[in-house]
Amino acid sequence: MTAKSVLTFNNASLSYPPRTKRDKPQLVLDNIRLSVASGEFVVVIGRSGSGKTSLLNLAAGFHQPTSGAVLLDGKPITGPGAERAVVFQNDALYPWLSARDNIAFPLKIKGLGKSEQNRKADELLAVVGLQNAGDRKIWELSGGMRQRVGIARALAAEPRFLLLDEPLGALDSLTRTRMQGFLLDVWSRSKAGAILITHSIDEALMLGTRIVVLSPNPGRLATDLEVDFSKELLGGAKPEIIRNSPLFKHTEEGLTNLIHSLSPEEEAAA
Ligand SMILES: Nc1ncnc2c1ncn2[C@@H]1O[C@H](COP(=O)(O)OP(=O)(O)OP(=O)(O)O)[C@@H](O)[C@H]1O
Ligand SMILES: [Mg+2]
Repeated sequence: MTAKSVLTFNNASLSYPPRTKRDKPQLVLDNIRLSVASGEFVVVIGRSGSGKTSLLNLAAGFHQPTSGAVLLDGKPITGPGAERAVVFQNDALYPWLSARDNIAFPLKIKGLGKSEQNRKADELLAVVGLQNAGDRKIWELSGGMRQRVGIARALAAEPRFLLLDEPLGALDSLTRTRMQGFLLDVWSRSKAGAILITHSIDEALMLGTRIVVLSPNPGRLATDLEVDFSKELLGGAKPEIIRNSPLFKHTEEGLTNLIHSLSPEEEAAA
């Protein structure tokens, strides 16, 4: 495995340009200070529109901060890179390719031969439970299957950072629980750093080594909390036992209250 890496938001702010001449630029992220190192799993939660995807897009290099900096090992991120794999909120697979060829794509870019590409892609297809779907085109797969192909593709290039925007959102609860275990497992074996966005506080608690809450309008870091439940899960503890512990319930309640307390007037208007 490569040496330890760190992805840093150094007082990063992001404004989107005004839509019309009369509008002002919209400040979406305000002065974000956050560091994510290899071996960390940072989960970002917050209301819809609080800037979670925007934060991930900065790390992915799709946007540049309006002020401050986003750095990988001290160097400004100026665009996308293979060492930062992204799974998008809405799957961004290549519809004209089969599931296998989608997963193999980053390996092709890396210059691997066709048989090696296929061998690795088939291995990953099995990991995400799609061993029989390799030949299917993307439009022949369900939403949940597409998400799994997206995750497998992100893992294929063995990136240093996994940037995951609600990667399990379209899954039924059984598959979701299975995929959480799987994600945690691959992440811990890869020693990569991860930033995962979710709307589920339960998922945040189960997967994260840290949980970051974004408050909306503009997105600010409301809290940055270290948690240990994912270590228990990785150590073989049963999810229902973890969920029933007083500390889990207490932390879940604290996070729920915090998110509700952030701009409650918005909720009333929604
Ligand atoms: N490319 C863009 N151009 C202009 N405004 C944008 C753009 N992307 C997002 N926004 C605005 O920035 C704000 C934050 O959006 P963002 O997608 O980061 O939120 P989010 O927390 O990911 O929300 P959700 O939970 O619904 O996915 C919203 O007000 C949105 O309308
Ligand atoms: Mg989003």
